[in-house]
This record gives sequence, C-alpha cells and structure tokens, in this order.
Amino acid sequence: MGKKYYLFEDSSELAAQLAVDFKSAVEEKANSGESLTIALSGGHTPKAFFEILAEPPYREGIPWKNVIFFWGDERCVPPDNDESNYKMTNIALLSHIDIPAGNIHRVLGEDPPTNEALRYEKVIGENVSSGGNEFPRFDWIFLGMGDDGHTASLFPGAHNLKEMQRICVVAEHPETGQKRVSITFPVINNAKRVSFLVAGEAKAPVFKEILEKGSEPLPYPASMVEPQNGMLEWYLDKAAAPEL
Ligand code: 6PG
Repeated sequence: MGKKYYLFEDSSELAAQLAVDFKSAVEEKANSGESLTIALSGGHTPKAFFEILAEPPYREGIPWKNVIFFWGDERCVPPDNDESNYKMTNIALLSHIDIPAGNIHRVLGEDPPTNEALRYEKVIGENVSSGGNEFPRFDWIFLGMGDDGHTASLFPGAHNLKEMQRICVVAEHPETGQKRVSITFPVINNAKRVSFLVAGEAKAPVFKEILEKGSEPLPYPASMVEPQNGMLEWYLDKAAAPEL
C-alpha cells in the first residue's frame, strides 16, 4: 500500500511526532471498540518515544486498554537485565501507564531460547488475527535498523532470513553470540503498518543504499522489509538521511 519517509531535525522531534501519530492510531481503533496489536522494537532509538508516551498528555490521554503490546525481538536475558528490551520499555513506559497486564506479551528471555520461540509464536498466533493467510497480521510493527542493516534480530547472512514457515525464530547476534527471539519476515511483511525508527549518522550509509536500492538485492535485512499489503514508513532524523 505504499512507502512514506518522514524526516525530522533530530531524534527528539522524531519521537514527538511519532507520539502524536501513535495516539491518533490508538484512538481510531478505540473509537470502533477495537484494540491495536503492536510489535515493539528494542535498542535505544524508541526510548525517547516511550518516555513521551509516559508523560501527559499521552499517559492519561491514550486508551491503553485498546493497546496490546508484543516485541518484534528480545534478547534471551532475564527481564531485569540491562540488555532486556522489555526492561527498557518497562522503565520508560509500561511502569507509568494504566495498561492491563494481560495486554503486555513479553518474550520470556529468561527461558531456553528454543522453547521460548515456540511458546512466543503460539502467543502471537493466539492473540494477533491473521490477514486471511496463515500468518498473524499485526496492526503496527516498529523496527529499528542496526548500523549493519539488521532489523529486529534478523542479521545479515543469517540462515533465518530465509525462514518462511515460522512466526518466531531463535537468532544469534553475530558479534556477541547473544541468543535472541525474533519475528520472521513472513510476519513483518504481513503487517498493516511497519515503521522504521532510524536516527543518527551511523545509520546513514546503509539507509542511503536502501533508499537508492535498484532491482539488485542488498545484503541488508532491513532492505527485505516490504509489506505485501501494508504501509512501510521510515521515521528518520537528518543525521541518518542527509540526502532526503
Ligand atoms: C534490538 C533491536 C534491534 C535495534 C537495532 C537499532 O533488540 O537490538 O530490536 O533491531 O532496533 O539494532 O538499535 P538502536 O536503536 O540502539 O540503534
């Protein structure tokens, strides 16, 4: 359904606009009595966005009972570990808002990765309606992009880039060997809306290649995000996209 680029002066402006967009998306769903199924990204970029949502007017202004949170990927560490995406989100947002506990589906990073990937794909399958095909269709998936072009925990050259059956896979960080649980491309590309949040000059070289991507495939998983029947959005700051 298309691709949009939103360019901001800096990451704070990006976060501020994203909070406005998030509130209106939730309100639209809530007005029809429905909930929004969201897969959150990890890393550092979304933190400023979460912190804005944890403050007025968003903390009280968003109908949180109409928001259902999942994670697009998680590090296989306990929820109180500084590496945990859940921990970052809980500190920045979840611990400040009145959201039903049942609306938060965290990856159990403390459990054995293979078991947890199987459990989590069941959780997603049971709580996210499909779009008429066999894969769950999230209302909104947030993604970051690593300096190497990875997204979620789908890293360049990884065998699971070709995974076309599973909803979740066990991934491994190529440098640290850290195990992760990640959603797969069939799920990402089945979403109604996919938004990349990309800030900082370290992302600029890869983003430029993706922006100018011709028909040749690129070695960057982020370039493989192409929602089949959904909107792809890039929320970028000028440092990451000086040429836009
Ligand atoms: C993770 C993420 C990962 C992240 C990118 C960008 O668990 O690390 O989900 O895909 O989004 O690495 O991270 P930054 O926002 O820290 O640059």
